[in-house]
Amino acid sequence: IGKITIAIDGPAGSGKSTVAKRVADALGILYLDTGAMYRAVTLKALRAGLALDDEAALAKLAAATALEFKQTADGSYHLFMDGEDVSAQIRTAPVTKAVSAVSAVAGVREVLVKQQQRIGRQGGVVMDGRDIGTVVLPHADLKIFLTASLRERAYRRWLELQAKGDTVTIDEVEEDLKRRDAFDSGRSVAPLRPAPDSVTLDTTALSIEEVVERILALASSSF
Ligand code: C5P
Repeated sequence: IGKITIAIDGPAGSGKSTVAKRVADALGILYLDTGAMYRAVTLKALRAGLALDDEAALAKLAAATALEFKQTADGSYHLFMDGEDVSAQIRTAPVTKAVSAVSAVAGVREVLVKQQQRIGRQGGVVMDGRDIGTVVLPHADLKIFLTASLRERAYRRWLELQAKGDTVTIDEVEEDLKRRDAFDSGRSVAPLRPAPDSVTLDTTALSIEEVVERILALASSSF
């Protein structure tokens, strides 16, 4: 089971990263947060003042960006962009607002998908994102599509933001999720959708532990 590949896709706020991290820990395998990679390229593009519709410039920027997940002193993994720890900055509102536009650029996806596939090829990885089961790891041993009602997802994301001291309202969070989901599902390249051979888990009424347990049970029966 140490060589299993698990793809977890789903809309924003469905609990993908929390669940993927726990599943990876339980199996003693790697967790790769592909959304963080799109966020890092977006952060760099914003800093460089690039127009979010300048596809050629965005693709060139992605190709010239070094991304690396490294374990820090407290044991958690942080994302380093060109040597700088950007883990906190990639979660800020301006990045969240711009990331869907940047991730819709085919040239950007080409660069990042290649890196993700290189990591996936070694096996022993849980990857989460929007196109993992459909594009990045079409041969994954297990594909999960995580969903939850929009209100529940907004509530979960709002709790996280509150904990960070953010004063945003739950309705604002809901609007942002709705906009991002529509954009991610409607784009022409690698739209968010369940792979035909994926298992859909609606987590609206499930605890994190319950979701993790179901995925672990599916993992042991699919590898
Ligand atoms: O998962 P997270 O919410 O951090 O992802 C941020 C954004 O990155 C998504 O809204 C989506 O536009 C993009 N993304 C993507 N493909 C992935 C992962 C994330 O397009 N595999």
